[in-house]
Amino acid sequence: MAKLIAPSVLAADFANIQRDIEMLNNSDADWIHIDVMDGVFVPNISFGMPVIKAMQRHAKKTMDVHLMIVNPDQYISTFKNVGADILTVHYEACTHLHRTLQAIKLEGMMAGVALNPHTPINVLEDVIMDIDLICLMSVNPGFGGQSFIENTYKKVIQLKHLIEQSGSKAKIEIDGGVTDQNAHKLVTAGADVLVAGSFVFKADNPTQTIKNLRLLANS
Ligand code: DX5
Ligand code: ZN
Repeated sequence: MAKLIAPSVLAADFANIQRDIEMLNNSDADWIHIDVMDGVFVPNISFGMPVIKAMQRHAKKTMDVHLMIVNPDQYISTFKNVGADILTVHYEACTHLHRTLQAIKLEGMMAGVALNPHTPINVLEDVIMDIDLICLMSVNPGFGGQSFIENTYKKVIQLKHLIEQSGSKAKIEIDGGVTDQNAHKLVTAGADVLVAGSFVFKADNPTQTIKNLRLLANS
């Protein structure tokens, strides 16, 4: 299976969001990663439903929505309605994670779970068969442009092992500080999807940067 690239629009130019979404449509990007922050679960606020709805009007690729919010359960159908194809909640924000995952799937979306850097892999043992995507945070969530946490490689290997042992079909996504310096090592460890915000959007040529990153991930 090809390794996927999911540029994060958190680093896009919000005043030119149509232009930036069209750039992604015409690039080698596989998914569009969309970061929702509520100022409670994480110490930052990004954007909410009206902005995602506006992105959906232009997006021609899978919309991968990463919720960094408390109480995600109350908004599951709303995120479906504004265009989410994949909805990822944080393990640390869900008291009844199993129920939340079922609710996401009932809406027809792929169900993702994100783990903060300090959260061990083994907390997923009893829900691994219910998850379509596991997002390993390789920075502390809340901001783009942070440095990659090296301990992530170990977690990717542990998670790959859990997935293979259980027979789960879950994909492993890495989110935070991804660049051409760590992409190859991450996929070698077992990653399937690489999120990249600043590395793509702060580049002189984002389209070429996505192409290079995808080639590197699949080399
Ligand atoms: C961080 C977000 C990331 C962020 C990645 O809280 O979840 O998706 O946009 O940005 P970079 O690639 O700049 O670390
Ligand atoms: Zn994210």
